[in-house]
Amino acid sequence: MKAVQILGDISSPEIFPNWSMEKPKPKGSQILIHVHAAGITGDEIIWPEPYASPTRIPGHEISGVICEFGPDYTGSLIVGQEVFAFLGANRGQGQAEYAICLPDEVALKPKSISHAEAAALPIPVLTAREALTDHGSVKSGMKVLITGASGAVGVMAVQLLARMDGMEVVALASARNHEMVKDLGAHEVLDYNFVGWEREVQGADVVFDTVGGDVLAKAWECVKDDGVIVTVGDPAPAWAFGGGQAPESIDRPRVRYEHFIVSPNTEWLGDGSEMIDDGSLRKLSVQAFPFGKAKEAWAYARERGRKDKVVIVFED
Ligand SMILES: NC(=O)c1ccc[n+]([C@@H]2O[C@H](COP(=O)([O-])OP(=O)(O)OC[C@H]3O[C@@H](n4cnc5c(N)ncnc54)[C@H](OP(=O)(O)O)[C@@H]3O)[C@@H](O)[C@H]2O)c1
Repeated sequence: MKAVQILGDISSPEIFPNWSMEKPKPKGSQILIHVHAAGITGDEIIWPEPYASPTRIPGHEISGVICEFGPDYTGSLIVGQEVFAFLGANRGQGQAEYAICLPDEVALKPKSISHAEAAALPIPVLTAREALTDHGSVKSGMKVLITGASGAVGVMAVQLLARMDGMEVVALASARNHEMVKDLGAHEVLDYNFVGWEREVQGADVVFDTVGGDVLAKAWECVKDDGVIVTVGDPAPAWAFGGGQAPESIDRPRVRYEHFIVSPNTEWLGDGSEMIDDGSLRKLSVQAFPFGKAKEAWAYARERGRKDKVVIVFED
């Protein structure tokens, strides 16, 4: 089968489209998907998983058709169904013509969009939902700051918040994306390039940061004393994964702060699919590259300022 590989090590990775990889066989309750398209989150190249796997195949989000089940599968899905999936952080291997999924990773694909468009959604939909629900404990009437609001995860977070009652949604994005973010439901939009933007937002109940680094550091100035900061920006802050205390928390001891790695969730993925089909969630704009242009696809996915999420198409 065709599959993308990341060769080399994490400091000098090389994307290699391999045309003759071995097709996997589902075991236990696994599901084999004939992948039509797979999404790329550019920073995946600095995630450790592909470097530890013998196949070196990256990719955590796919859209395709179910083609086979392992012998112990007992769920309700059937061969031939169109599905999309988030392959758990420790698994991946989605950027291939065939990919193995676990039952809790798969949901029915939105009917109203293409496989290429569906493949862009699993990570952004699940990350935004998990951040706001499980980690941020966001409730109606709160003030929430989203950084990276024009990115794939940010766009989903802004839309989910805009559906809740009485919210004050503040979005941080480059000026060229302000109209788009407002149109998705943000009430206030700020520009990173405006020096002192962090002083313009005060008393946020929750900050959901998708950028990290300097932006995350400044976000501490925006959150209220007993507020919450949730971040997924890459690279992860030094305090993530048990790395100690955030330096800012010395002066702001009541602020709760969390970094997390997104988990599979069939129910939330299914909700996302229905929301796309009923028009309550807008799809992402995508740029599709054929498998043979995987190298170019990854290079584009790593660019800052690009308008679209990047997907690799295996099957039209
Ligand atoms: N931990 C997890 O489970 C998890 C899950 C999903 C994503 N992530 C990570 O979360 C981040 C966002 O993912 P995504 O798919 O939404 O990425 P994306 O579509 O590339 O969006 C990134 C956004 O961040 C902004 N940005 C980038 N660099 C910036 C900087 N130096 N200063 C200010 N803004 C900056 C960009 O804004 P402009 O282009 O408008 O400037 C863009 O809107 C990535 O690092 C990704 O790896 C982690």
